[in-house]
Amino acid sequence: MQALLKLFQFLRPHWRFAVMAPVLMLCEVVLDLMQPRLIQRIIDYGVARSDTQVVLGTASLMLCFMALAGLSGLGCGYFAVRAAYGLGGDLRVALFRKVQSLSFGNLDKLETGALITRLSSDVNKIQEMVMMMMRGMVRMPLLMLGSLVMAAVISPRLGLIFIIILPALTIALIMIIRKTFPLYRQVQEGLDGVNTVMQENLAGVRVVKAFARTEYESARFAFANNILVQRMTDAVRMSSRTTPVMMLTLNIGVVAALWLGAGQVQNSGMLVGELVAFINYLGQAVITLMMFSTLTIQISTAQASAKRVLELLESEPMIPSPGQKMQLPSRPLGKVVFDNVSFNYSQANPDLVLKNISFEAEPGQTVAILGATGSGKSTLMQLIPRFYDVCQGRVTLDGVDVRKIPEEELRRHVGIALQESILFSTTIKNNIRLGEPDASFEKISTAAENAQADEFIRNLPDGYEALVGQRGVNLSGGQKQRLAIARALLLQPSVLILDDSTSAVDVRTEGLIQKALERNSFQQTRFIVAQRISSVLNADKILVLDNGEIIAQGTHFELLDACEVYREIYDSQTENGVLTYSGN
Ligand SMILES: Nc1ncnc2c1ncn2[C@@H]1O[C@H](COP(=O)(O)OP(=O)(O)O)[C@@H](O)[C@H]1O
Ligand SMILES: [Mg+2]
Repeated sequence: MQALLKLFQFLRPHWRFAVMAPVLMLCEVVLDLMQPRLIQRIIDYGVARSDTQVVLGTASLMLCFMALAGLSGLGCGYFAVRAAYGLGGDLRVALFRKVQSLSFGNLDKLETGALITRLSSDVNKIQEMVMMMMRGMVRMPLLMLGSLVMAAVISPRLGLIFIIILPALTIALIMIIRKTFPLYRQVQEGLDGVNTVMQENLAGVRVVKAFARTEYESARFAFANNILVQRMTDAVRMSSRTTPVMMLTLNIGVVAALWLGAGQVQNSGMLVGELVAFINYLGQAVITLMMFSTLTIQISTAQASAKRVLELLESEPMIPSPGQKMQLPSRPLGKVVFDNVSFNYSQANPDLVLKNISFEAEPGQTVAILGATGSGKSTLMQLIPRFYDVCQGRVTLDGVDVRKIPEEELRRHVGIALQESILFSTTIKNNIRLGEPDASFEKISTAAENAQADEFIRNLPDGYEALVGQRGVNLSGGQKQRLAIARALLLQPSVLILDDSTSAVDVRTEGLIQKALERNSFQQTRFIVAQRISSVLNADKILVLDNGEIIAQGTHFELLDACEVYREIYDSQTENGVLTYSGN
């Protein structure tokens, strides 16, 4: 219950609707409770005395009450929807914001599939339940109490039927509910299973087709789906037992009322209409109990959803914001120092991904990082904009520990083109100016020119306005990479990191990008992660990374002399002293 209660704070902005709904429901219930009494009046004073006046008058009153009750019900429904959907909408936004605020370390642990389930079906369940509650919260206890009181007023002796029937029905319903709970929990687990398979396959459908795994994956999906269908059937079958149980109890109650009531009508002057009204109240009480059992099931499933939503909502970013902030100058020089840095993705794993890394990058220098895949190049680069925190040692920018620099400021001065170029489904222009949404067109096109992307962009049907992605143009790997570079260049950061950003760009274009970078009018420290010797030849300093350690650093010629690994890489990419590796 606690998780649900915590989420109710999201009702606060919608409190007017949340109050209006139960108030209107109150009107509806009161009007509903009057109906059996009016029926009684028609029977006892109208029909019994053949008084058409009373029959017509009371019938009109009944119609009025019905219309009013209907209106109140509609109003209640409307406000309940506004409140519940308002809560759902706000909750989704809060969850989305939360995901955005998490750090890389948190995101490594969350599956996209599970995130989507939380933002969609979990929020929906909570929303539905809140809506049901808005209506049921007032209706059920009031209708129950009202029916009991009204019935007791009619005949305290017949009221004993309530005392026997309602507890019996309650016990039966509890027994059924207790069997249903675990079934619904299994349904949710089944839904997770289906979502995971679906998410993986929708994202990777091309790979599935390329490796002719369609049959296998379809079978896997069918299997998960069958489990879900089976569990849903079980759960619904179990919970639908409540209806016959309720009907049986109700009918027993009606028979008992008629039997005992008939005696009272003959002997102690009870009116026929009163008996009819009594039976009506009995029916209402039983139906209310049914509604209550449905709501209980709904609350329990919403409870599971609330826990999952809250777990995400309450997760703290693994990168704490600096306690004591240090301001950088408006344009830092760009000196980057790694001081005996060790790093690990998870504390549980004793093997370090980076071991005792120390090096300095002077302002304006170009530093290249060379090493086999998995040697830790990307990890090393991601420590500069503080995507992760070091486990030992420190990384400084202009002498200030990056842990002391406010996140936005750090990210403004450190531009990075990630190894995987991700584009959003908007225009090329917007994709480039992601880090500076109000950048002028001139700035955008300069960045694109320097990244050698301007030419191919202008050749697209809509140029810079061309849409990227599913409904727009499809770009090659090299073109995407150049857009990612342009995006990083646009910020004109003091520190620029290109993480293997030209792996799919041909050598000639890569050379042009490097030349353009050198022509920059401002000072910039550059880190270039590369696989090809040709990419690093002109760097001021080359770091050779192997298995998380820097095994050598120096210029190209120094390393050719001193580092065997470097020489091996060089030899493998040259033939008779001529670079052969030309990329793709
Ligand atoms: N997000 C991550 N979580 C856990 N381990 C990771 C993560 N990213 C990379 N690694 C591991 O860290 C090591 C270095 O990876 P990476 O820095 O990407 O190497 P490179 O960029 O040189 O190819 C690899 O063993 C890889 O499996
Ligand atoms: Mg990498």
